[in-house]
Amino acid sequence: MLVNAKEMLDKARAGKYAVGQFNINNLEWTKAVLLTAQELNSPVILGVSEGAGKYMTGFETVSAMVAAMDKSLGITVPVALHLDHGTYEGCYKCIKAGFTSIMFDGSHFPIEENIAKTTELVNVAHGLGLSIEAEVGAIGGEEDGVIGKGECADPQECKQIAELGVDFLAAGIGNIHGVYPDNWEGLSFETLDAINKTLVESVGEVPLVLHGGTGIPDDQITKAISLGVAKINVNTECQLVFAEATRGYVEAGKDKQGKGFDPRKLLNPGFEAIKAKVKEKMELFGSVGKA
Ligand code: 13P
Repeated sequence: MLVNAKEMLDKARAGKYAVGQFNINNLEWTKAVLLTAQELNSPVILGVSEGAGKYMTGFETVSAMVAAMDKSLGITVPVALHLDHGTYEGCYKCIKAGFTSIMFDGSHFPIEENIAKTTELVNVAHGLGLSIEAEVGAIGGEEDGVIGKGECADPQECKQIAELGVDFLAAGIGNIHGVYPDNWEGLSFETLDAINKTLVESVGEVPLVLHGGTGIPDDQITKAISLGVAKINVNTECQLVFAEATRGYVEAGKDKQGKGFDPRKLLNPGFEAIKAKVKEKMELFGSVGKA
């Protein structure tokens, strides 16, 4: 059931669990995430980066595929179709294409410009019933060519952006996209705690978003949830298990046995690997049975 992400994340924040955002790249990815959410009775967010949207021939293709698949698979759990790290222009494209949720990533702009653009997009999104995520403090690592340093967000800037009425907020706490380097210092819980306290005292219990979910140790995930994180984004980890399972199939020569080259067979191990990874994350995040 396609919905915006506000209610599911408010419930997650109040219930002290997190909803996973799993980024999708193609039909197999989408089907794997939707079926797993349904099997586990969990709410879920399908994340689409601008690069992945382009790869799938545009946001309209993605939106039509997700809406049709949601219907044909008989998905009854809440599903949000969400733009990940959207540009200003990308947000408008997704609104037009029928997404139910957008993220405007203005973290690389000076705070005044981030505020101005976020204000406008909050009004437009809410006027049309979409939820909106904003970002303060760039997330480190590389995603679709955008390189961030892994900053820690300033709690006062988080307050300024949250006051604009964003439904959930991504705040950098030393997290980065992709695999964490060996010398990564871990999440800054001091920053997370300060942001959470500042928001609770001013705007209220805003669900916080943890990007770069790949490779964060389980105990840090659990602690982050206890400090207000209610949405966790995972992308690279699904790509890694998909690649590994596909390589295993090919290296075992299975594509050369019978009709093993059939894409429905060739892509199946990767599909199953994504399902298993999404299940593992939903169990860790505590969203199982919360639909
Ligand atoms: P990872 O690729 O590190 O899991 O990060 C995903 C993400 O934060 C998408 O916005």
